[in-house]
Amino acid sequence: MSQFKRHTITAALPYANGPLHIGHIAGAYLPADTYVRFLRLRCEDVVFICGSDEHGVAITLGAKKEGVSPRVFVDKYHHMMKKAFEDFGIGFDIYSRTSNPVHYETAQEFFKKIYDQNLFIEETSDQYYDEQEGIFLADRYIIGTCPNCGNPNAYGDQCEKCGTSLSPRQLINPRSTVSGNTPVLRPTRHWYFPLDKFENWLREWLIEGHQDWKTNVYGQCKSWLDQGLQPRSITRDLDWGIPVPLPDAKGKVLYVWFDAPIGYISATKELKPNDWEKYWKDPETRLIHFIGKDNIVFHCIIFPSMLKAAGDFILPDNVPANEFLNLEGEKLSTSRNHAVWLHEYLQDFPGRRDELRYVLTSISPETKDADFTWKDYRQKVDSEMVSILGNFVNRVMVLTWKYFDGKVPAEKELPGTDDRRKKILTLYEQVHIDLNQSVKEMVASLKVFRFREAQFQMMNMARIGNKFLADTEPWKLAKEDMVAVAAILNYSLTVVGNIGLACEPFLPDGAASIRRQLNSDVFETSRKQFWQKEELVHTVREGAQLGAAEHMYKPVEDADIEKQTARLHKNAPVIASEATIAATKPLKPEIVFDDFAKLDIRVGEVVAAEKMEKSDKLLKLTVDDGLGRRTILSGIAKHYSADEMVGRQVTFIANLAPRKMMGIESQGMILMAEDNDGKLRLIRPTEDVAPGSTVS
Ligand code: MF3
Ligand code: ZN
Repeated sequence: MSQFKRHTITAALPYANGPLHIGHIAGAYLPADTYVRFLRLRCEDVVFICGSDEHGVAITLGAKKEGVSPRVFVDKYHHMMKKAFEDFGIGFDIYSRTSNPVHYETAQEFFKKIYDQNLFIEETSDQYYDEQEGIFLADRYIIGTCPNCGNPNAYGDQCEKCGTSLSPRQLINPRSTVSGNTPVLRPTRHWYFPLDKFENWLREWLIEGHQDWKTNVYGQCKSWLDQGLQPRSITRDLDWGIPVPLPDAKGKVLYVWFDAPIGYISATKELKPNDWEKYWKDPETRLIHFIGKDNIVFHCIIFPSMLKAAGDFILPDNVPANEFLNLEGEKLSTSRNHAVWLHEYLQDFPGRRDELRYVLTSISPETKDADFTWKDYRQKVDSEMVSILGNFVNRVMVLTWKYFDGKVPAEKELPGTDDRRKKILTLYEQVHIDLNQSVKEMVASLKVFRFREAQFQMMNMARIGNKFLADTEPWKLAKEDMVAVAAILNYSLTVVGNIGLACEPFLPDGAASIRRQLNSDVFETSRKQFWQKEELVHTVREGAQLGAAEHMYKPVEDADIEKQTARLHKNAPVIASEATIAATKPLKPEIVFDDFAKLDIRVGEVVAAEKMEKSDKLLKLTVDDGLGRRTILSGIAKHYSADEMVGRQVTFIANLAPRKMMGIESQGMILMAEDNDGKLRLIRPTEDVAPGSTVS
């Protein structure tokens, strides 16, 4: 790290087509923020860049769906994401957007720079056009039958069933996913970036030169290169985007993946109009892209080639991409509303940002996909944040207030040679070694983007602290040896302070709480030393007055978790799991409407109920059907008691021929839902209706 003078840290520009969810946060923004905090603590020169990605078909189609213009659409989501990032405490130096004028200029200039070297290939070819929508279709928006495996829903760029990569024209029976119509071929002219010409250079720069990159990233790059690179079109026919800056290019805009990464540069320009260049052109600047795994080729192969082609830019020194985060064992999905939305979390859990940071970092999908569950969230908050970290800090504070009126007691020199003091000294020495070890491992892990491990070491410091208290038991010594109690608490306060420093990259709110509690003027000066020397530092001054003790974190309540679990899949189409399908009874043969119309289904109210003697199944119900009362026998005695039934509304078939059972005539049939295990539940209106109401 030391050969670099400064750092340009970018986090993938999220599409302004929806709110942020925890998958985005865990993938790119939280690791980036943690790393940037770490660099700043080490007094490095850093710019931390992000913004909204506002172009592309994802935007135009999203706008269409919501029935608004792309401009209105991106405005809405840009502000929403910007606010959610701020509220969550992601510390970008700038959160810009790609519809800004400075970005238009920068992207067009970039294009021109490559164009002027005659590097682009200009070519007219036939592409699919949706006549109803009046648009050329991007590969992803065409589906058809896979020529390889016959899958009827293969995409224009790939068949997800057999994995073959395709081009739209290979599809049999292509259909537009926008209108459902069959698209037609139309000639159109575009510009192509000759990626193939960069293949040798990429092998040298990336495959030879960056074996230090994460294996998931390096592996994906290598496999791309091994498959061979082709020229890629970098323009589109769209009316939303950055116009191609050439005189004869009406209706053509830059492809979103051409303009978006340039957005990193534009945003830096906006942030530092006078010296942005040193963050992008000085070889002593270290460029790092934080992204999710679906962005790897763009950041490791295509954008670097573009930077190389434009000349005089630095290249990424690392691209620590994460794998994906799942939720409760399933893929996150916006359309099925299977997600934890950041803005909703912040609303539902005010003052509990650290909790989400902590849990997401502790399951960070650094090397493989990971799974977020609410059960796990609760477990980690309760048994680690509350019981280990919060508890340690609180105990030390409370004890110091109790025995020393909240003033930092005298330092460690423990005169005397009695066994008890010797034991304390030995413990203290061991603890000191262990803590320094944790600090070193934490910093070493942060340097190589292993945030899970780093955070574990931070928490380990609190674990060690708790053990120190448990082993020395200062509350037991209080009557006999206040000198020892003072020494123990003085050291414990130092440990609290060092934990406060260690948690700054991970838990900014917890760090602030510790700073308030210690109320120490040495804190600021010791910070630099801690992060640079990577060892324990003094954080309190003897005799200084502490702040009030705080509970840094509070346990998660049942209700919190229930609410979150209930939210999942709400308003979303239900997709049955294979197990449910296997157990569900097959559908009966089709009927016509007249068959249905013959049924007289009504709502009634149970006015009396009794269990039928000699039957363990039957209840005898007296039902008010709006016209009078009728008796209905129902086989629900195992599922509802007679008492439970009285006063309830039920749905029943009113024109079923009467039938005698056990000497009593049943005048109808109560409707029930039966699940796969044979459990019965009443079918009834969600709100009460007048008895006799008909069902249709
Ligand atoms: N908008 C893209 C996505 O969400 C990421 C763009 S990253 C950039 O997948 F580099 F192009 F900006
Ligand atoms: Zn296929």
